[in-house]
Amino acid sequence: MIPGKIVAVSGGVGLIGAEFSRAITLNGGKVIIGDIAEERGQALERELGSESAIFVKVDTTEPDSIDHFIKKGVGRFGGIDAAVHCAYPRSDQWGTRFEDLKPEGLADDLFRQVGGAILFSQKFVTCFRQQGHGNLIHMASIQGAFAPKFEHYEGTEIVSPIEYSAIKAGIISITKYIAKYCKGENIRANCISPGGILDKQPVSFLQNYKNSCSSKGMLNAGDLNGALLYLLSDSSKYLNGQNIIVDDGWGL
Ligand SMILES: NC(=O)c1ccc[n+]([C@@H]2O[C@H](COP(=O)([O-])OP(=O)(O)OC[C@H]3O[C@@H](n4cnc5c(N)ncnc54)[C@H](O)[C@@H]3O)[C@@H](O)[C@H]2O)c1
Repeated sequence: MIPGKIVAVSGGVGLIGAEFSRAITLNGGKVIIGDIAEERGQALERELGSESAIFVKVDTTEPDSIDHFIKKGVGRFGGIDAAVHCAYPRSDQWGTRFEDLKPEGLADDLFRQVGGAILFSQKFVTCFRQQGHGNLIHMASIQGAFAPKFEHYEGTEIVSPIEYSAIKAGIISITKYIAKYCKGENIRANCISPGGILDKQPVSFLQNYKNSCSSKGMLNAGDLNGALLYLLSDSSKYLNGQNIIVDDGWGL
């Protein structure tokens, strides 16, 4: 579906990023896996094979580190067709109730997730301009497009952070901004808003969540691959500034 496409994935060894990295190579592409987690990154590079994958350590909150990530990827494969931003840096405060949030943690999370996404966009747009084409994909969330379903969390310790809602609405906005800002430059930007991904959540939460969905409820990370491959492929050539919601009908 994406033969020969060269794709950089930040957070490329995470729950979603690792599935994306695998899907890219399985569908004929090459992947530049970027993550702060070095050991897991090197292991994923070995799994996917050095013909199709390279791991580069990157901190997406550091401009110089993103430059290095891009330089290594271009040096290895000769260019970068698309960049997917899956890195998910969180402060120690992450998951704190609304009533207990402190300014320092808020500043940290807002900078690392929104600021990081802006810096990632800035650096890749520069690279895409130099090579004359590019395709940027951000990760938003249903929490950025809809109000949380607080009733699903009753009886659990899980919190739906207010700053997550703000960050993800921000990501949808950043995506539209970049898409329009790069008008006429052969650069497009879209985002994916996944529903919740299965990751050992409490059974009661999973059942409540599923009641709001059409069939499966919480998804596996691999259930997002179809949306990713569509966005990476030329089939979505004229899709720009859009937010693709993959949530099994949760938002309906
Ligand atoms: N998991 C879900 O249920 C879900 C649902 C909707 C949206 N999302 C979004 O998808 C994206 C990926 O989520 P995930 O569940 O795969 O997260 P994850 O925590 O499993 O993976 C994130 C990866 O980012 C890496 N990382 C953290 N800080 C970094 C930094 N500063 N620089 C580079 N890499 C860094 C981590 O090492 C990790 O490998 C996030 O934007 C998240 O908000 C996730």
